[in-house]
This record gives sequence, structure tokens and C-alpha cells, in this order.
Amino acid sequence: MGREGLAQGIYDRLGTDAMKAEDLALLASALLRARNAEGTEKLLERALRIDPRHPETLDVQTRLLAGTDRLEQASNVARRLIKQPGWAARGWLLLGLIRHELSDPAGEAEALEEALGLDPRLALALKTPAEARLSLVRAYLSQGLPAEARRALLAGPAGQDEPQAAWLASRIELQAGNIDAAVAALSRSGSYSNGRNLEPDPAPLAGAKACAGCHHEIFEAQQSSHHARSFHTGPGLARLAIPEGNIADRFGNDVRFHFDRDGEKTELVARKEGREARALMEYAFGSDDRGLTPVGRDASGRWREFRLSHYGTGSDWDHTSGHSAVPTGTEEEGPSAYLGLVLDTDDLRRCFDCHVTHTRSARDRHGPAAGDKAIGCERCHGPGGNHIRAMNAAPRFPELAIAQPRLASGEEVTALCARCHSPKSAEVRRDDPKVIRFQGTTLTWSRCYSGSQGALSCVSCHDPHRDAETSATYYKAKCLACHDPAQTAAGAAAAHAPTDGARVIELPENVRRVPCPINARNGCVECHMPSRTGVVPHTSFTDHQIRIHGDSEAN
Ligand code: HEC
Ligand code: HEC
Ligand code: HEC
Ligand code: HEC
Ligand code: HEC
Ligand code: HEC
Ligand code: HEC
Repeated sequence: MGREGLAQGIYDRLGTDAMKAEDLALLASALLRARNAEGTEKLLERALRIDPRHPETLDVQTRLLAGTDRLEQASNVARRLIKQPGWAARGWLLLGLIRHELSDPAGEAEALEEALGLDPRLALALKTPAEARLSLVRAYLSQGLPAEARRALLAGPAGQDEPQAAWLASRIELQAGNIDAAVAALSRSGSYSNGRNLEPDPAPLAGAKACAGCHHEIFEAQQSSHHARSFHTGPGLARLAIPEGNIADRFGNDVRFHFDRDGEKTELVARKEGREARALMEYAFGSDDRGLTPVGRDASGRWREFRLSHYGTGSDWDHTSGHSAVPTGTEEEGPSAYLGLVLDTDDLRRCFDCHVTHTRSARDRHGPAAGDKAIGCERCHGPGGNHIRAMNAAPRFPELAIAQPRLASGEEVTALCARCHSPKSAEVRRDDPKVIRFQGTTLTWSRCYSGSQGALSCVSCHDPHRDAETSATYYKAKCLACHDPAQTAAGAAAAHAPTDGARVIELPENVRRVPCPINARNGCVECHMPSRTGVVPHTSFTDHQIRIHGDSEAN
């Protein structure tokens, strides 16, 4: 009945000692709904100690792991649930949802087929059969398999004229090369695509290089920006500059490091008291504008974020920020504990999720997006396969068939950038100095943002295809678009330089235009968006919470 508080109270009085696995699972499920991840986890641990294969427990555990972005672990538990009698359909469906989150349409399609095959009514499940069918159609379209997509669509209960089904049919026909049928299906879809400006089209990835021919200028600019240089693997690693000689650990610890390079192989070596440990560099994250951190495997195969990072051209190798002075595990592991922080597969996946176009392509080095340099076009615009087909058939197919952030609201665009420019965990404390790295969070704390009815977003000041401008005059013009009482919308548009790839700022007429009482013409950013050092060594960040700072704070 949804009266979880009461139920929990009764359980509390019973005491958890007498509980069986199914009681613990039920209580865990209630705590999960109440978003108490820690409590859920504790109960699940106890339930699994009583019965490691208890299906309700595995079900709750899968959902907990998926909900806390531990998707690889969640996949593993879902696979165990599939093996429990009577739970296979539910397990496959959960696995399908997780593979979707992991941008793995092949895995998603396989799982959804299994679930629907075992139980066409999907009793016990989280989706209706019609919803599961439509997801299946999308999963096939994302792999460029229109025949399979058509079969899945026709097998389902959704009528061909239902708007979403008709819209998906337009993509099926587009991929199959039947342009007239695609146009006809699209006209049956009514207003389905209205307002879905950021929704990725269900299409295969094409890779950034496929965009170069028609979007030459954006391509050239984007590919030389730091977004496209924030990840390195393969032969690129051998070109990274490594220090000659030894580096002492920042915190002493009687530890010394050096790098060992042999052809394309680069290893970090940690030495302590005559013993040594090695980790092979496999990836590096960061363009090295602010920094670059290598990740690799130690001798026992564990992933390690290296304890040494490089901080920008002209700077040097130094302690990786966030690593403790004395790492855990020094007693048992000896020097290998100093190689760096151990990452599990989900930790490593998260580094990829924010530093490349498509995690699976980059890790498996497979598919067109595997050739992308770090973050490419399709990370923000979604897969481009349908778009390229539509453009090649132009002007017959009337949709662009690609996500169009240009038409999205300021809030939507800011949320797009915040997928990477905000922390993954929901809680950020305002007084934590590290928040300065999360522009996607701090900007939204500004009154400029909350008070301007969507007129301010990341693309008001940044061209998403280029690095940040560094001139104070550039940003001053942005501030004055809203803080010059004499400024009109037409004036702001006219003042917008034609070469500026940022969005024109149009402040609604009813919003107050307040000038600065201290300096109404100049120096806005130095005083209201100061740059701060100390969060990451050897570099600074810009405080995106635009506000009035006390004298002692601004520098
Ligand atoms: C065959 C040429 C062609 C190719 C290849 C192509 N595009 Fe386009 N694209 C166009 C045309 C034409 C338009 C519509 C006119 C315009 O806005 O430039 C367009 C529009 C767009 C838009 C919408 C622009 C807006 O105004 O909102 C985006 C986004 C886009 N393309 C991204 C891509 C990406 C990403 C790729 C690579 C995966 C790609 N395009 C490949 C021709 C192409
Ligand atoms: C939630 C998204 C996200 C995740 C997860 C993430 N990064 Fe980043 N990373 C960013 C963004 C955004 C920047 C640029 C702005 C900044 O530094 O905050 C960045 C910058 C960097 C830099 C440049 C130096 C610096 O601090 O600016 C390095 C090095 C780096 N990341 C390494 C990693 C590694 C290694 C992992 C995994 C352990 C990782 N990142 C995980 C989003 C992420
Ligand atoms: C970091 C996210 C991001 C990446 C990566 C990205 N774009 Fe965009 N793109 C956007 C946003 C946001 C807009 C809308 C900007 C606006 O409203 O001013 C946009 C707009 C566009 C437009 C519309 C026309 C224009 O000039 O603004 C085209 C075309 C386009 N992008 C193509 C590409 C291509 C091609 C690539 C890869 C070379 C690419 N984008 C990479 C976020 C991105
Ligand atoms: C896939 C994750 C991701 C998304 C989405 C993303 N960024 Fe970034 N962004 C990064 C990372 C990682 C870096 C650090 C690049 C480096 O290593 O120097 C970065 C760096 C930047 C920089 C600093 C570039 C410079 O001057 O050095 C700006 C500005 C920026 N992003 C703006 C945006 C905007 C605006 C959007 C949304 C349209 C956006 N980003 C979306 C991951 C992302
Ligand atoms: C899209 C319009 C817009 C832009 C661009 C903009 N602001 Fe604002 N700003 C506002 C609005 C709206 C308010 C709130 C006014 C009010 O409620 O009185 C505000 C408030 C402020 C305040 C007062 C904050 C407080 O907490 O009391 C400062 C300071 C400020 N802006 C500085 C700047 C600076 C500096 C820039 C450029 C870096 C800038 N703004 C860019 C719209 C904007
Ligand atoms: C009012 C203007 C403004 C808006 C809006 C804005 N930025 Fe910035 N941003 C700046 C300025 C100024 C800098 C510093 C540029 C320099 O290096 O001189 C900067 C720098 C950055 C950097 C480089 C790292 C740093 O902190 O210096 C990143 C990353 C970044 N912005 C991301 C974003 C994202 C993401 C958004 C949206 C949430 C956003 N910005 C919105 C003005 C803005
Ligand atoms: C020397 C530092 C400095 C410079 C330069 C500066 N400001 Fe300010 N600004 C302040 C201080 C301090 C206040 C608070 C004044 C007060 O409350 O008496 C303020 C207040 C504001 C306010 C709030 C006004 C209100 O009545 O609520 C806005 C908006 C603002 N500044 C915008 C700007 C813009 C835009 C620029 C650039 C054209 C700019 N500032 C340049 C220090 C500065």
C-alpha cells in the first residue's frame, strides 16, 4: 500500500535477527524505494549470506547497483538472476535495461528478445510488452538492422499508426533505403518528434570523420579542441613525454618512481626498500592542458589510476590529486600499493563515459566511433547514421534525423554539458572547494542563471565546438547583454560577432537589467567569476557561480 514507514517500523520491532532472506529482501526493496542505498546494501549483504541465490534479493541488488551507476556489476547480478527458476524473464528484462544504459544495443536486443520469448506478457516486469517491443525496435535500429527492427515492430501489439511506432517505421524504411515509404510513415507519426531536440536518433554510430565532408568548419574546430584530445590509447601513449630518471614520492614514504619505455610499451615502476612493482600504461585521460592521468594494469591485472600525473605543458609529473598521502594496502601489497588507486570496472567505465564519444567502441576498439579522438560529434548529437542517410536522400526526407541542441532550451543544453561537467553523485556541498570543477552545477547556483528565464546557458559564453575564449572583452560583452540597462534584444544580437559560435543572448524584456554600481563597463569576470588555484595542482579553475565576492575572496 506504499506505507513503507509503517512497515519498516514493524520490522524494526521484530528485529532483523529473526528475519529470513525474503524478509530482508522485502525490507531492502522498501529502503531502495526510499533511496536509502546504504541501508539497502547492508540488508542485501545479510540476505545473501543466508541464501546467495535468493531471487528477490538478487532482483533488488540488480536495481540498487543499476541505480547507483555500477552497471557492470549490475549486469553480473542480473545474469545470476536469470539462472533462478521462474525469474529468467525478469532477469533478462533487467539485463536489457542495463545494457541500454551501457549503450550496448546488441546486448540489449538479445536480452529483450529472451525476455519477450519466455514471457510475452511480461508478468513481474518493469515494462509493458508494448514498451519492451518499442525498445527492441530501437535497439535493432541502433545497430543498423532494419529487417530485424521491422520484424520486432510487426510482432508487437503497437499499431502501425500509433505515433511512436509510425515514427520508428520511418527510421526502418530510411535505413532500408525505401525513402517514399519512410516519408509516408513519418507523416503518420503526427507531432511525435516535436520538442525532442536532444533525443538521440535510433541509428548506428558513424564516427566523427563521417561528418567532416559536410560540416568541414565545425569538424576542424572541434577536432583540435581539448574535448577531442582528452583521451589517449594505443600508439598515442608512446608519444607522451615521460620523465628521465627518478621521481620521489611527494609524501616521502621511502618510495621512488621511474618510467620504463620499450617500443610502444610504457610502464610505471614503484620502488621501496629494494622491492619494485610495475603497472603497464593502457590509457591516459586529459588533454594535458590542465593535466593528464594514466591508467593501467599492475602485475596482478588490477586497474590502477597512476599515482603520478602530468600537469600541463611546461609543468612536470607530480602526485595525482585526490590520492592519499599513504595509500591503503601498503602493509599487504608493498610497493604495488604506490602504483595508484585501484579502479574496478565500473570506476574505469566512468572515466571513459566522460572522456570519449562511446565507451564500448573506445574500449573494444571496434566500430566507426572507435576512430574518434576522445569526445566527438556523436557524444552530444547522438548517433549520426540516420542523419547521413536522410541528407543523402535530401530533400525528399523532411527530418534531419539527428539531435539538434541548437533548438533546445538553455536548461536542456546546460543539462547536456552537466552530464560530464557535474559530479556523478547527486550530493555536492557548496562549501567543498572541489565544486569549482563542476561548472554544470555552480553556474545554476547563480542568480544570473535562475533569474533570466532560460536565457543563460553554457553556450551563451562557450562555442561547444571550441575551447574557452580567453579574452576579458569577449566575456564582458556577454555580461553587458544583460547588465547594460540601455541594451535591447536587437542591440545584443547586433553586437554578437558573426564569428562567435556561442548562442546569441536574448534576455526577456520583462527581466530587470541591473548595472554594476562598482564598474558598469569593465573587469566583470575578474571580480564576479574569479579564477582559483589549489584544487588541482599546477592549474586554476574559473568560479562559475557568478556572484558578489568579498574582497578577501577575490584574487
Ligand atoms: C551528406 C552531408 C552531411 C553529412 C555527412 C552530415 N551532415 Fe549534418 N547536416 C547536413 C545538412 C545539409 C544539414 C542541414 C543544414 C545545416 O544545418 O547545415 C545538416 C544538419 C546537421 C545538424 C543540425 C544543425 C542545426 O541547425 O541544428 C547537426 C547537429 C548535424 N548536421 C550533425 C552532423 C553530424 C554529427 C554528422 C556526422 C555523424 C553529420 N551531421 C553528417 C549534411 C550532412
Ligand atoms: C562525470 C564525468 C567525469 C568522470 C567520471 C571523469 N572525468 Fe575526468 N574530467 C571531466 C571533465 C568535465 C574535465 C574537465 C574539467 C575539470 O577538470 O573538471 C575532466 C578533466 C580531467 C583531467 C584533466 C585535469 C583536470 O583535473 O582538469 C584528467 C587528468 C582527468 N579528467 C582524468 C580522469 C580519470 C582518470 C577519470 C576516472 C578515474 C576521470 N577523469 C573521470 C569529467 C569526468
Ligand atoms: C560537447 C558537445 C558537442 C560536441 C562534441 C559537438 N557538438 Fe555540435 N552542437 C552542440 C551544441 C550544444 C549545439 C547548439 C549550439 C547553440 O545552440 O548555439 C551544437 C550545434 C551544432 C550544429 C548546428 C549549427 C551551428 O553552427 O551551431 C551543427 C551542424 C553541429 N553542432 C555539428 C557538430 C559536428 C559535426 C560535431 C563534431 C565535429 C559536433 N557538432 C560536436 C554540442 C556539441
Ligand atoms: C562527454 C563528456 C563531456 C560533455 C558532454 C561536455 N564536456 Fe566539456 N569537457 C569535457 C572534458 C573531459 C574536458 C577536459 C578536456 C581536457 O582534457 O582538457 C572538457 C573541457 C571543456 C572546456 C574547457 C576547454 C578549454 O578551453 O580547455 C569547456 C569550455 C567545455 N568543456 C565546455 C562544454 C560545454 C559548453 C558542453 C556542452 C555543450 C560540454 N563541455 C560538454 C567533457 C565533456
Ligand atoms: C542572460 C542574462 C545574464 C547574463 C549573460 C549575465 N547575467 Fe548577471 N544576472 C542576471 C540576472 C537576471 C540577475 C538577477 C537580477 C535580479 O534579480 O536583480 C543577475 C545577477 C547578477 C549579479 C548579482 C548576483 C547576486 O547574487 O546578487 C551579479 C554580480 C551579476 N549578475 C554579474 C554578472 C556578470 C559578471 C556576468 C558576465 C560574466 C553576468 N552577470 C552575466 C542575468 C545575466
Ligand atoms: C557568463 C559566461 C560563462 C558561462 C555561462 C559559462 N562559462 Fe565556462 N568559462 C567562462 C569563463 C570566463 C572562463 C575562463 C576562460 C579563460 O580561460 O580565460 C570559463 C572557463 C570554462 C572551463 C575551463 C575550466 C575553468 O574552470 O576555467 C570550462 C570547463 C567551462 N568554462 C565549462 C562551462 C560549462 C560546462 C558551462 C555551463 C554549465 C559554462 N562553462 C558556462 C565563462 C562562462
Ligand atoms: C572591482 C570589482 C568589480 C568589477 C570590475 C565589476 N564589479 Fe560588479 N560588483 C562588484 C561589487 C563589490 C558589487 C556589490 C556592490 C554593492 O552591493 O554595493 C557588484 C555588484 C554587481 C551587480 C549587482 C547589482 C545589484 O544592484 O544587484 C551586478 C549585476 C554586477 N556587479 C555586474 C557587473 C558587471 C556586468 C561588470 C562588468 C561590466 C562588473 N560587475 C564589474 C564588484 C565589481
